[in-house]
Amino acid sequence: MATHNIEAALAALDAHKQSLAGQSIADFFRDDPDRFARFHVELDDLLFDYSKHRITTTTLGLLLDLARAAGVEERRAALFAGEPVNSTEHRPALHMALRNLSGRPMFAEGHDVMPEVLAERDKMEAFAESIHNGDAKSASGERFTDIVNIGIGGSDLGPAMAARALAPFVPNRLRLHTVSNVDGADLGDTLKRVPLETTLFIVCSKTFTTIETMTNAATARKAIAATLGEAAVGDHFCAVSTQLDKIAAFGIRSDRVFGFWDWVGGRYSIWSSIGLLLAIGIGKEKFEEFLRGGQDIDSHFVEAPLERNIPVLMALLGVWYRDFWGCAAHAVIPYDERMARFPAYLQQLEMESNGKSVDLTGARARIETAPVIFGEPGTNGQHAFFQMLHQGTQIVPIDFLVAVLPLCADIEHHNLLFANCLAQSQALMQGRPLAEVKQKLAGQGLSTDAIEALAPHKVFDGNRPSSTFLYKQMAPRLLGQLIALYEHKVFVQGVIWNINSFDQWGVELGKELANKLTPVVTDASRSTEGFDASTAGLIAAARAYRGG
Ligand code: F6P
Repeated sequence: MATHNIEAALAALDAHKQSLAGQSIADFFRDDPDRFARFHVELDDLLFDYSKHRITTTTLGLLLDLARAAGVEERRAALFAGEPVNSTEHRPALHMALRNLSGRPMFAEGHDVMPEVLAERDKMEAFAESIHNGDAKSASGERFTDIVNIGIGGSDLGPAMAARALAPFVPNRLRLHTVSNVDGADLGDTLKRVPLETTLFIVCSKTFTTIETMTNAATARKAIAATLGEAAVGDHFCAVSTQLDKIAAFGIRSDRVFGFWDWVGGRYSIWSSIGLLLAIGIGKEKFEEFLRGGQDIDSHFVEAPLERNIPVLMALLGVWYRDFWGCAAHAVIPYDERMARFPAYLQQLEMESNGKSVDLTGARARIETAPVIFGEPGTNGQHAFFQMLHQGTQIVPIDFLVAVLPLCADIEHHNLLFANCLAQSQALMQGRPLAEVKQKLAGQGLSTDAIEALAPHKVFDGNRPSSTFLYKQMAPRLLGQLIALYEHKVFVQGVIWNINSFDQWGVELGKELANKLTPVVTDASRSTEGFDASTAGLIAAARAYRGG
């Protein structure tokens, strides 16, 4: 990768951005009747519309120059070749192998991982199927009715998001739950909702040391042992981890232990045995459709030319707004209530992967990296934070996601939902100028003074960018496609920012300090000496509230 080429590409984009001053997205549409045709890509039942952006064909060309200068194609080849792209942990990032249904080998540092991947997938799917069908029984010989996934971060967000998104594919006889927070309310409230006699717990943790998961799992184990007897633990627990030896100490039966590999990052692990909750819920066949969706995008990412490559385009648009327009946030708004956890899933995927300020050489990153990712389902978000998206002082680029057909909701509801989604991207782009506002108010019979006073408040600047992902209908394969699109988007951005998207050292310090603080918080006789004045003051106040 030649740094001078990147600097030249960045400089060219900077100059180009200046040349766009005074032009709006609405102007671009007016000037080019083919704009939608030019700026959308279709892939199976999914359409990615990126025409409502502050871009022209020149912008795209320059962004693609940047991608090439940064070595996106070479780095993509290294990723798929199983090279140790996670340089600080000396590991490949080969989650694509988990959804490889092609029969072809995939190599992690020269070793074909597919035989182990397929063996583990078979074992996990056979178990999932036995719970899904009711063949595997609880300690009292009944079929399981409730499945509780205990995990956090990548060991929770994937199963939680996907189980909710695909809920209509889960038979009514099964109820899926997730517990993540070390706040005892999370597990406590779940335990109140489930019949322990027919509840299966999945303990998910890549490292099997994460304090939240270990604490919740131990409490759940106690509840099972206390209610059903110690002997029932074997029937009511299973586990997923890369640290199989640590699971043995917890007392989980070896045939109920499912592994994965250190070349699978936590936030990329939904495709592995970490997807067990989902596989139990939707069954083996649909779980494989989900994997197939991921594989579709791997092929697209590898084969499509960069200018028609959806994850590449998503990444470049993100870089355009983050680094040239100073946009510090990015919203993801699924017009799909069951996709409510998708923004949270993407928060970990994008912010844990690319929330870095040091580049691959250890130097400070020279341009801004990951924005804040946030979102809520539409139409709810419209009645909460959309005011700021339309009229706030910051520009927040948005991804809208919407299905053309509902899965099982009323079509009347769905038409309203769909119309609202289209209306938002249109309003954000088009805006409403002062003259139009005044004309409207005059039409309502307001006096000139009243119009002058009110009109500025009703102006929408417009020119606010968004992409729309339009798809036929939510389905396991479609969800797999959506997730993998964002995964590769994150990868491409990481390459352009020259950072390691696959480590997460930024979560360590807080964990370390929490470990130091726990004994001091637990035991009021411990000294707070050595803590900063604020922390010591808060502990003292907490002790006082607790009554010493
Ligand atoms: O604290 C961050 C993190 O390490 C994530 O990267 C990971 O997904 C999560 O914790 C859970 O880790 P584990 O699966 O090892 O319990």
